[in-house]
Amino acid sequence: MRYKSNALYLLLTALIFLLSACSLLPQMASSSSNPTPTTSQQNQSSKTKSITPAILTLRDAAGNSQKRSIYIGTAANIDAFNNDATYKRLLGQEFNMLVPENVMKMAVTHPSIDTFDYSQGDELVAFAKAHGMQVQGANLLWTSEVPAWITQGGYTRNELLGILKDYITNVVGHYKGQVQSWEVVNEPLDTNEYNQPSVWDQVIGPDYIDYAFRWAHEADPQAKLYINEFGVETSNDKANQYYSLVQSLVKQGTPISGVGFEDHLDVAQQYPTAQMIANMQRFAKLGMQVEITEADVMLQNSTAPMTQKLNQQAQLYANLVHDCQAVQACNAVTIWGFTDRYTWIPGYTHHPDQPLLFDTQYRKKPAYYAVKNALLK
Ligand code: XIL
Repeated sequence: MRYKSNALYLLLTALIFLLSACSLLPQMASSSSNPTPTTSQQNQSSKTKSITPAILTLRDAAGNSQKRSIYIGTAANIDAFNNDATYKRLLGQEFNMLVPENVMKMAVTHPSIDTFDYSQGDELVAFAKAHGMQVQGANLLWTSEVPAWITQGGYTRNELLGILKDYITNVVGHYKGQVQSWEVVNEPLDTNEYNQPSVWDQVIGPDYIDYAFRWAHEADPQAKLYINEFGVETSNDKANQYYSLVQSLVKQGTPISGVGFEDHLDVAQQYPTAQMIANMQRFAKLGMQVEITEADVMLQNSTAPMTQKLNQQAQLYANLVHDCQAVQACNAVTIWGFTDRYTWIPGYTHHPDQPLLFDTQYRKKPAYYAVKNALLK
């Protein structure tokens, strides 16, 4: 009798163990290949939360969020991609959205009047496809990284409009169905970090924005089309200007789907969460999707001890993820790179910095864990 009940007990324990293992399988399988979980996966994941094994990567965390799954993206640096195997591995492992850092900008894709060069963009798109990642093209039009044949071409408004149409039709057509969203117009407001006047604004005038969106939409009606800007995260004057611009585009029927907030942050500054959420929310109320498109957090302007700065940095990253999840229309947080080994900040500020999630040796920083935990919550 006693022997029998022991055997029964053992059998039951084995059964329970087997059942728990089976219920974990879908989550484990999704960890490297599935970018966005379906609602049923999300329901399942919350049911199995108590026995969920360690979530391994950021994209796992994004897919297993208890609140809402958003994309976790990164800018991809082509030199690192081609020369650094660890970089390439982490890119596909940690993120489910890829934004080419530079190789889809006009200076690269349309280097002369009769050439288009998609070779490097194609490499990133193929990689993204193989790893189940979304691609957001960045960017079609900017003041910077415009080829010299345009800036020095002396074109008339009509000539430049013709060039613009041909360019957008060609690029968006080439990536049709492979690039799910485009940053069509980058940093349209007067002040940009390189203080260059925009050739588009100067020669064509402000309606270049509407033309660009229309032609992009014609070339790929499925693609989501974004405008993107920096320094517009809190409710400051520039954010108000951005809001007015987007509002007028929506009013006039420009086929714009979303609004990007770059979020290049600085630990030495304050970013009140409620204000940032309210700011995104007002664009959402215009019918826009919203995205955090280029997050990084520089340390160089704070005199606090390094440990403290790294923790403040982690907190700011966590807030960004939280803010995005709090706004229903926010579907992605993209970080402008992921390792301090490759970041644009030192080149831009002429000062060393560590603004990203992994250090230069690919060790995970407090910011990495903060992003992961925030995605999960
Ligand atoms: C930056 C890249 O990171 C650098 O490698 C490049 O030299 C200049 O552009 N805002 C943007 C991005 O919209 O395209 C910029 O990327 C960073 C600021």
